[in-house]
Amino acid sequence: MTVAPLRKRPAWASLEQHHKKMQDVHLRQLFADDAGRGEKMVVEAAGIYLDYSKNRITGETLDLLLQLAAQSGLREHIDAMFRGDKINVSEKRSVLHVALRAPKGATILHDGKNVVPDVHAVLDRMAAFADRIRSGDWKGHTGKPIRNVINIGIGGSDLGPVMAYEALRHYSRRDMTFRFVSNVDGTDFAEAVQGLEAAETLFIVSSKTFTTLETMTNAHTARDWLVAGLGDQAATAKHFVAVSTNAQEVAKFGIDTANMFGFWDWVGGRYSMDSAIGLSTMIAVGPDNFRAMLGGFHEMDEHFRTAPFERNLPVLMGLLSIWYNDFFGAQTVAVLPYEQYLKRFPAYLQQLTMESNGKHVTWDGVALDYDTGPIYWGEPGTNGQHSFYQLIHQGTRLIPCDFIAFAHTLNKVGRHHDMLLANVFAQTEALAFGKTVEQVKAEGTPDWLVPHRLFAGNRPSNTILLDRLSPASLGRLVALYEHSVFTQGTIWQVDSFDQWGVELGKELAQRIIPELESTQEPKLAHDSSTNALIRRYRKMKGSG
Ligand code: F6P
Repeated sequence: MTVAPLRKRPAWASLEQHHKKMQDVHLRQLFADDAGRGEKMVVEAAGIYLDYSKNRITGETLDLLLQLAAQSGLREHIDAMFRGDKINVSEKRSVLHVALRAPKGATILHDGKNVVPDVHAVLDRMAAFADRIRSGDWKGHTGKPIRNVINIGIGGSDLGPVMAYEALRHYSRRDMTFRFVSNVDGTDFAEAVQGLEAAETLFIVSSKTFTTLETMTNAHTARDWLVAGLGDQAATAKHFVAVSTNAQEVAKFGIDTANMFGFWDWVGGRYSMDSAIGLSTMIAVGPDNFRAMLGGFHEMDEHFRTAPFERNLPVLMGLLSIWYNDFFGAQTVAVLPYEQYLKRFPAYLQQLTMESNGKHVTWDGVALDYDTGPIYWGEPGTNGQHSFYQLIHQGTRLIPCDFIAFAHTLNKVGRHHDMLLANVFAQTEALAFGKTVEQVKAEGTPDWLVPHRLFAGNRPSNTILLDRLSPASLGRLVALYEHSVFTQGTIWQVDSFDQWGVELGKELAQRIIPELESTQEPKLAHDSSTNALIRRYRKMKGSG
């Protein structure tokens, strides 16, 4: 299907007109107009209840956004992804993370070959390895079982594993230690190995390319630490495994490729937590729980692929994001999980959303004349309430919020959970409806204080309610956001699966490293600021 540029799609012009009408309509009014709104503007699917009624929309807004989706070829693009078309156009790659969670027996083709059996072969090898580590059958170099697992990776090779470990900690082996090293800042490594015995430590070097500066630097440091601890070069064999697509580099590093778990170039880094990159997760929670997580992902994949758009969770969330980003000019989205175990979820989502949709040209390379990729940020509730919520409630910016909550807690402690959930509902209510001048005055507020105590309201939010945090519900939640990102990227016509924006900094760092390390005064040819900073740093470090 040929798709017109975004601004030329008929629904775009209609939405612009419609926005003029909607920008002054208050949520108070929308709720007063329809007493059933809170029960109508909800969708329940794949174990997720989404209440989107507290958004600044009407039925007409939704119709227009759905028309925009149709005119953007969303259906065709979804089909193209599942069919294995090379929709990552700038890298000429298929985008098949959905195959990572397809059940045995399913068929998903890549270049004419069904990849699902390969996916399951790797999963089976991971499971066998995870079982050996968990049971103590796999022994370290000195014959001791492994009690500590350290994942070394960065970006998608770190954020997914660390987020999933934290999220599923309740299901994890409490007698084992799991740590994650990502930063090239040596402190990250130094702290990760604090108090650990080399003889009981396994390093998983996770890197799709196995060339990433941070990861390879940390991997070499880990090898030195291990060899120093055990006094034998040969010790690495039982203490290092790799997760990568690059067998050659893995072998070059000195890891036997028999201890390598592979994945494929059709899995993007930020879409890889359910591939072998999830090995640390699998060791932590066990193969059955890992498979349950994949089941949750798959449920959402199927929902996304088959549900009509007006009842399709990721499509609706993606369209709402477009509405605020492109028509209201909202620049950010706050993700607010009211679940302590999801404390790393906002950080995980930052890579997923911003590396995917932070783009400035269409997939044909044409410069965009509209905004893409809002900034995602957040903290677990209720902590944020005593920090940045002030700005969301009374600041001058419009910040749509996603509230995420679970009906059941994994740690029933007194009245805590009802109190937590009361805060979710209170916050969304306060944001939407605020407090009027009359209400503030009726509380006996002196006139001069009224403006300060006023809550304008009309601040939109989604409430995403799930049953309880489990491997399956985590899978559903992550897939929900993955496909929402896809929906937005399709409408913006950007390549959500490349990341050229990270290259320049990497290149320049490679050039600067020798300039910092050289014992001779280097000839610098940067701009005057960069030159001066390099000189200043050399001088400062020289002075100890
Ligand atoms: O930051 C860029 C990036 O390529 C991410 O997309 C990726 O997740 C990360 O680096 C790590 O890459 P690798 O797994 O190849 O080490």
